[in-house]
This record gives sequence, structure tokens and C-alpha cells, in this order.
Amino acid sequence: MKALVWHGKEDIRYDTVSDPAIEDPRDAIIKVTSCAICGSDLHLFHNLVPAMLPGDIMGHETMGEVVEVGSAAKGTLKKGDRVVIPFTIQCGECDQCRRGNFSVCERTNRKKELGDKAFGHATAGLFGYTHLTGGYPGGQAEYLRVPFADTTHIKVPDGIDDEKLLFLSDILPTGWQAAVQADIQPGDTVAIWGCGPVGQMTIRSAILLGAEQVVAIDHLPERLSMAAAAGAITIDFTNESVVDRLNELTDGKGPHKCIDAVGTESHVSLGQPDTLLDRAKQMLMAENDRPHVLREMIYVCRPGGVISIIGVYLGLVDKIPMGQAMNKGLTFRMAQAHVPRWTGDLLRRIEDGQIDPSFVITHKVDLSQGPEMYATFRDKADGCVKVMLRP
Ligand SMILES: NC(=O)c1ccc[n+]([C@@H]2O[C@H](COP(=O)([O-])OP(=O)(O)OC[C@H]3O[C@@H](n4cnc5c(N)ncnc54)[C@H](O)[C@@H]3O)[C@@H](O)[C@H]2O)c1
Ligand SMILES: [Zn+2]
Ligand SMILES: [Zn+2]
Repeated sequence: MKALVWHGKEDIRYDTVSDPAIEDPRDAIIKVTSCAICGSDLHLFHNLVPAMLPGDIMGHETMGEVVEVGSAAKGTLKKGDRVVIPFTIQCGECDQCRRGNFSVCERTNRKKELGDKAFGHATAGLFGYTHLTGGYPGGQAEYLRVPFADTTHIKVPDGIDDEKLLFLSDILPTGWQAAVQADIQPGDTVAIWGCGPVGQMTIRSAILLGAEQVVAIDHLPERLSMAAAAGAITIDFTNESVVDRLNELTDGKGPHKCIDAVGTESHVSLGQPDTLLDRAKQMLMAENDRPHVLREMIYVCRPGGVISIIGVYLGLVDKIPMGQAMNKGLTFRMAQAHVPRWTGDLLRRIEDGQIDPSFVITHKVDLSQGPEMYATFRDKADGCVKVMLRP
């Protein structure tokens, strides 16, 4: 089959690889109808996680049709079922899965020793997301083997386009969780850093969850316009001080809730000198991430507020103002999204017409164009917000 394969830094190729096959009775194979490129894929594209190997298949936002089912998955899946595959692989039975903490499932990371070493305790297996999370082949491909398929799928009805359903795999529940874990109350001002695909889903979720004022921060005009179209006030961080404007909008008190939808790859610019230092330290391997947004959120957040982190961080961060966070009494909540915790509710909202996440797609192309699309998405060129690929 054909797939998008990682070969090294900024080197993803459209290769021929072997077809996946059932390896375990709980597996299923799906024929992919649509998949997408995520902001998290860019961290691998940039080789910021030193746990990819040449030959690894990329992709963790995937949907399709079931074409083969292992004997132990037959109770819940059959050939012909239409499914969206969550980026998290879950067993459904361990202590964490029973608590709904699917992204830290205790059983699906088949490279647990590596995960234990890197994180203290291994997290769940993830599709196409390094050997720290199991080294599972991803879904930017014609076919995908789904391990633990009896619990790792979202059945979706016919009659709704892939465009509306595909993002149940990741960015829609991710944005939803970012807003839910911010504990939004009536009257709240919620500030959201990053207007990429995840930020866009977060903005709409925060509004649906009752935020009074949503403020969206980025520097890319087309993404800020998309945020404004949802009803957010926008801040271009290259034009004005984020901290000053957020204080102005809240009578000097700061936002009640601050959400980081940027993560490790904060924009590097002279206007934000700490990002230059972080970039230099990253090159010297003295720091993993560029946590500019974290610093800004802690500084501007209203005392007693919540910091919700959904942008991905990779490892060690420097110069985090912990004293400020502690003395202001801030609460930190963060996670890789616990996808299936939210997808039942979100699918109903899609079916009702309350949510239509397809607005975010700017590029719909053949899987073979994947390699060039990685560069377009990385450069935010050609107005690119979200790339959907079809094998
Ligand atoms: N926790 C999860 O489960 C989960 C799931 C999916 C994606 N993610 C993460 O969410 C983040 C965003 O993903 P995406 O697909 O939207 O990526 P993206 O790269 O398209 O978007 C990031 C946006 O942040 C903006 N930005 C950069 N620096 C900024 C700053 N200092 N202030 C404000 N905005 C800034 C960029 O201009 C860009 O628009 C990534 O870190 C990704 O890994 C997390
Ligand atoms: Zn993702
Ligand atoms: Zn589990």
C-alpha cells in the first residue's frame, strides 16, 4: 500500500510499504477514506522528539471502513462498519481507562520500558507518534491496523460527510477538553493562545460552554479572521502587547481562564526575546521546548484562575515563573486528549447540526501530495489551516 513515511528531519515521503495484517485477535484493519495532518505531526517533522525511526508511518487523524476483524473484536465491529479512529489506543479495561483517562491507558503502549524511562510512567499507545508511545504505524496511509480495535473506534453513521466526522479522531475532542478542563463559568473571560486547528476548536468549545468573552491570540491574519468569525476578540501578538490588551479587556484583572493551544513550538521573534533564548538552548540540547506562552499565561492570568494546557510539550522547560503561579493560586490542568471521553457527546452535537468542524479545512488533496502539504502546513503558506488527505 501507499503511506506517508518518516525518513528524517523534514523528510516525509509517499512510499510503498507492506499492507498491514491482523496480528492480534483484538485487531481490525480499516481502509482509510480520509486522514489529516495535525500540529503534533509538525513536532515529528521537525525531529523534536528523538524517538522516530526511518520507515515509521505518520498520522493519527484517520477514518475509514472496516475491512477485516480479528476474532476477539467481532463482538463490536464487523466488515463494512464506518469508523473514526481516536489517536489514543485504549484497552478499555485498565484502571485508567475505567476512569476515562484514555490517553494514559496502562496496557496499550507496547514499548512500555521506553515510556517509563522517558516519562516516569508510560502513557497510552498512540498511532504514528514515536516509539515512546508504542511505535505504532499511523493512518496517513491506504490501510491502518487498529490494535485493541474492539474499544479503539468511534462508530459513525452513513449520510454525514467525512469532513464533518474526521476530526472526532483528535482536534475536536482536544479543543473540547481544553475548554472543559478550564472549568468555564458564566461571566468568564477565556483567553486562548494559538488559532491553529486546535485553537479554532477550543474557541468554539469555550463559547458553547458559556464563556462570556473569548479572546484569541495569534499572528496569522487568516487564522485570526477564522477566530473572529466564531465571535472571539482577536489579538495579533506582533502588533500589540498581549498582556496589556488582556488586562484592558478585563478591567486590569486578567482573564479568568487561560488556554495554551500552541505548545512547544512557540513562534520565535525579536519581539519575544525569551523565544530566541529558548531556540538557542534547544539547539544546544539544554532545553526541549519554547514555553513562551506558559510564561505569558502565568503572568497575565487572574489570581485563582485556571491554566489549561492542550498544546503539546515534550520535556524540560526553563524559566517558568513558578513563584508567580503559586502565589496567585493558579490551577494547572493538562493532558493529551482523552478522546473517547468526549466523542459520544460531540458526535450527537455534529448530528444535531450544533457543531460542524469542517470549516477548518483549507486544503483537501490526494495522499500522494502529503509530502508537499507537510511543508505548506509547516510554513502556514497559501492560507493553510488544516490539510485533509484522501488515499
Ligand atoms: N493535547 C492533545 O491531545 C493535542 C492534540 C492535538 C494537537 N495538540 C497540540 O496542539 C498544538 C496546536 O496544534 P495545531 O494543530 O493547532 O497546530 P498549528 O501549528 O497549526 O497551530 C499553532 C498556532 O499557534 C500560533 N502561535 C505560535 N506562537 C504563538 C504565540 N506565542 N502566541 C499565540 N499564538 C502562537 C501559530 O501561529 C499557529 O497558528 C500543538 O502543540 C499540537 O501538538 C495537542
Ligand atoms: Zn494530533
Ligand atoms: Zn486501558
